[in-house]
Amino acid sequence: MRFERAKNYDEFATAQKKAAADLSELLTKQIHAADKIYEIGCGSGIFTQHILKEISFKELTLNDLYKSLPMEKYPSQIGDICTLEIPKNLNLIVSSSVLQWIDDLNSLFQKIDDSLFEKGMFAFAMFTNGTLFELERFTHQGLAYKTPDEICSLLKNHFEILDSKENFCTLQFENLFALLDSLKQTGVNNLDGNFHLTKSNFKELEKSFDGKFNLTYRYLVVVCKKFN
Ligand SMILES: C[S@@+](CC[C@H](N)C(=O)[O-])C[C@H]1O[C@@H](n2cnc3c(N)ncnc32)[C@H](O)[C@@H]1O
Repeated sequence: MRFERAKNYDEFATAQKKAAADLSELLTKQIHAADKIYEIGCGSGIFTQHILKEISFKELTLNDLYKSLPMEKYPSQIGDICTLEIPKNLNLIVSSSVLQWIDDLNSLFQKIDDSLFEKGMFAFAMFTNGTLFELERFTHQGLAYKTPDEICSLLKNHFEILDSKENFCTLQFENLFALLDSLKQTGVNNLDGNFHLTKSNFKELEKSFDGKFNLTYRYLVVVCKKFN
């Protein structure tokens, strides 16, 4: 994960923009207002822009590991969402394209549940298994993406699921250079640091794409509500 250094993130984050738009669509089918909103992993603000346009609120708090531009304009909490203390009595917690990085989702769901006010809502989009399979089939490395079923069964310990949607986005590139550049620009590469591209495995990787330089992103969008 190299988001802090992914300076051209917004230009290349096609899948993340699609996930954010789907999240916004599902969320606004349920609500158009929430007093206290908290966003996990706001990054450059792709989903934050949807909130600002489509949800009216009294307070918006933004979180990320690093300080980003939108965090200069709104109250913010910098740090790992798994370890920092989330404010209490929130009405809506949102997150787009972040939770696939969280190892212990069950603990985070419990923490989110504890931070929500009665009938508070939690809405998110996250990448799921099958994401970047085109790289994984070659490197045999990848994030341990969860399946939509695994995520929903963890959620059901804490929340009532009001709506959900699975979707995907396939990006097509001219060649392997363009494909690798897009991964670099978005800070996502699915590799754990033990895989290094060399001249010879570059050729093999190129061959594994068989002339079609595609990258697939699969994601799950969920809108759920705290049990009363
Ligand atoms: C793919 S970006 C998504 C940014 C934005 N939400 C969007 O829709 O484009 C993932 C963001 O999650 C942040 N992030 C990753 N792990 C995090 C954690 N444990 N706590 C807080 N933020 C985290 C990263 O710093 C990065 O800005």
